[in-house]
Amino acid sequence: MSSYLVAPGAQVHGVIEVPGDKSISHRALMLGAIADGVTDIDGFLASEDCLATLAALRALGVTIERQPGSCICVHGVGLSGLQPPTAALDLGNAGTAMRLSMGLLAGQRFDSTLVGDASLMRRPMQRVAQPLRAMGARIDTDGGHPPVHIHGGAALQGIDYALPVASAQVKSALLLAALYARGRTTVTEPAPTRDHTERMLLDFGVQVTRDGARVSVDGDQRLTGCRVQVPGDFSSAAFFVVAGCLAANPSLTIRNVGCNPTRAGLLRMLALMGADIELAPAAQDAQTQGAAARAEPVADIRVRASALHGIRVPEELVALAIDEFPAFFIAAAAADGETVVTGAAELRVKETDRLEAMAAGLATLGVACRLLPDGIVIQGIGAGPRFGGGRIDSRGDHRIAMAFAIASLRAQDAIRIDDVANVATSFPGFAELAASAGLALQIQPD
Ligand code: S3P
Repeated sequence: MSSYLVAPGAQVHGVIEVPGDKSISHRALMLGAIADGVTDIDGFLASEDCLATLAALRALGVTIERQPGSCICVHGVGLSGLQPPTAALDLGNAGTAMRLSMGLLAGQRFDSTLVGDASLMRRPMQRVAQPLRAMGARIDTDGGHPPVHIHGGAALQGIDYALPVASAQVKSALLLAALYARGRTTVTEPAPTRDHTERMLLDFGVQVTRDGARVSVDGDQRLTGCRVQVPGDFSSAAFFVVAGCLAANPSLTIRNVGCNPTRAGLLRMLALMGADIELAPAAQDAQTQGAAARAEPVADIRVRASALHGIRVPEELVALAIDEFPAFFIAAAAADGETVVTGAAELRVKETDRLEAMAAGLATLGVACRLLPDGIVIQGIGAGPRFGGGRIDSRGDHRIAMAFAIASLRAQDAIRIDDVANVATSFPGFAELAASAGLALQIQPD
């Protein structure tokens, strides 16, 4: 298992660009696969997670060409053109791939089985299986966990479903199943979650209506292949945004980042802490009412070293920053005073229990913190002192690994992070990009 060894106290600066958005890349492949005609995807993220989706769609009979650079050409087979796979579909570490595939496959005429790596096999799938069953799907799980067996030939019926947890994956699975259902499917969110599926369905010519927290799709609408421009992944940029708050001198700019307001809650949290961050062009804040919003907002983010102070994170921002908490906790640990996060129990069912994993790592670095059932309280060290160093177990979670690499910027001793191979699931090239921005990071092979 490879590790990172990061020397303490570096600074970051310059202009960098992060790879394409993972959520959007998964969705572009899936919608392209069931569209009529060709879909060209520019800026595709060729990470292990997205390549698992690509391989699964090929196993379902879709021709997908990888072109030079980060371009992908998907030859859509139409709404009813997917073919029975000859083996279980292995989705690796990718929760998004598995949950969205459940929605895509629930209304097919053939059977399919979904499996993944050890982490994915432990993750909850009941939250998707249950509403899909309410639509008429026949799905078996192992006590709510993978393997997921989907029995073909079910006649799906639209439903009106209130999500019990704020989850874009569950919402998206239901909107994909809706395309195969009779009548209208409506999903109500308890809090806004990323809306990439809704935006992209519009680009493929599907009618999507939004009425406050309710989003609806009518069945039996055909998709038309199109060109998808994938912006830089905000969740990858997040590590550099926090790095910049800790140690950007004179400044660090991350270009071409997707700043969809349903993703960019971290920027609002850091602003509350006093971070010096500018967007060009300034982010659009409002979510369009009536119709779903369309193009993905993109911006360059410029950040300078900032004197942060602790905050109580507003719970309405949690779902808008759900993947950014590992990075955010490092910002909180460097801030002056206490930061309190509540309403974030979902962090316990990500690739690892991220509350636990981060609390253990912060304790290793000498940062006082206290776990809550649904959050954490972190006592930031403030501007003068530094974190200690030490050895961190990433628990095979890409975002835990990258968060502690960034922590080195405020450490007094080296930090070694074990089990970092899974960084390739979301951010191939992270180590090289971090080093180019100024981090003193070396990869230690197995
Ligand atoms: C994602 C939704 C979020 C997020 C995940 C990607 C998506 O998961 O954590 O990394 O692409 O829809 P939940 O829907 O479980 O919150």
